[in-house]
Amino acid sequence: MKKIKKAIIPAAGLGTRFLPATKSLPKEMLPIVDTPTIQYIVEEAVASGIEEILIITNGNKHSMENHFDVNFELETRLRLSKKEKEAEQIRAIANMANIFYVRQKEPKGLGHAVSCAKSFVGEEPFAVLLGDDLIINKNGKPVLRQLIDVYEQTSSSVIGVQEVKQEDVSKYGVVKPVTQNGRTIEISDFVEKPPVEKAPSRFAVLGRYVLTPAIFEILDNQTPGKGGEIQLTDAIRTLMDREHVYAYDFEGFRYDVGDKFGFVRATIDFALEREDLKENTANYIKELAKKI
Ligand code: G1P
Repeated sequence: MKKIKKAIIPAAGLGTRFLPATKSLPKEMLPIVDTPTIQYIVEEAVASGIEEILIITNGNKHSMENHFDVNFELETRLRLSKKEKEAEQIRAIANMANIFYVRQKEPKGLGHAVSCAKSFVGEEPFAVLLGDDLIINKNGKPVLRQLIDVYEQTSSSVIGVQEVKQEDVSKYGVVKPVTQNGRTIEISDFVEKPPVEKAPSRFAVLGRYVLTPAIFEILDNQTPGKGGEIQLTDAIRTLMDREHVYAYDFEGFRYDVGDKFGFVRATIDFALEREDLKENTANYIKELAKKI
């Protein structure tokens, strides 16, 4: 069995939900407290054993590339002003992983974005992490590691799911479960954004996948689906006809940072977890709660 060392992070979206900030700033660079959301995603991949990451970008994402590069001038200035800790911190970001970039030339959907990684991935199984899904498993394994562990037991593709509210199923790819063994679920169908009344379950895919390379040939021939886009969900549906695909009900709390309220919620929760901010934030929330 081949080890999973490569991950793809699609980041070529326009970020229209966060305009005007995203007029010139990639949405992946919007910070939760002081760290861009994309950095949390890269950290999860690295903590899960990933060594090489391909970020799918577009022409407006230079600041994201700069973020993962060395900034020699800033580092030198920080060291000159005796800010060693900060200098170390920004250097560490550049050393986290081998990060590569490729541009998605047209916004043709998630499936198309993943297909841009074909030559990077080659003949190996690989991971996909979506940047809008920030998932924290405070005292346990990162979500991607949980999926990789299932891959290592089954040699099959694994998609990370959690149950969502019935009224929210139409926002996600939804699986049809057949049997469940612990958190691992045998599935018989997978549908992209079904209408609430047609959803096969409440198990929604929340932005983490481990896939076998057979997906690329399927994506090459994939016709547009929901929203006129090449959907990764449709390609995985076809993969299920050829190979076993499991769903895994992962442990962790997921923030939808592609949504404004999800973003605010993550900011508050992350501030409450930070030693330097938790007291002030908690006191402020208590005061506020008396007024509203
Ligand atoms: C994408 C996928 C969908 C998945 C979701 C998770 O949709 O197509 O299957 O459930 O991410 O966040 P998007 O949110 O990009 O429309």
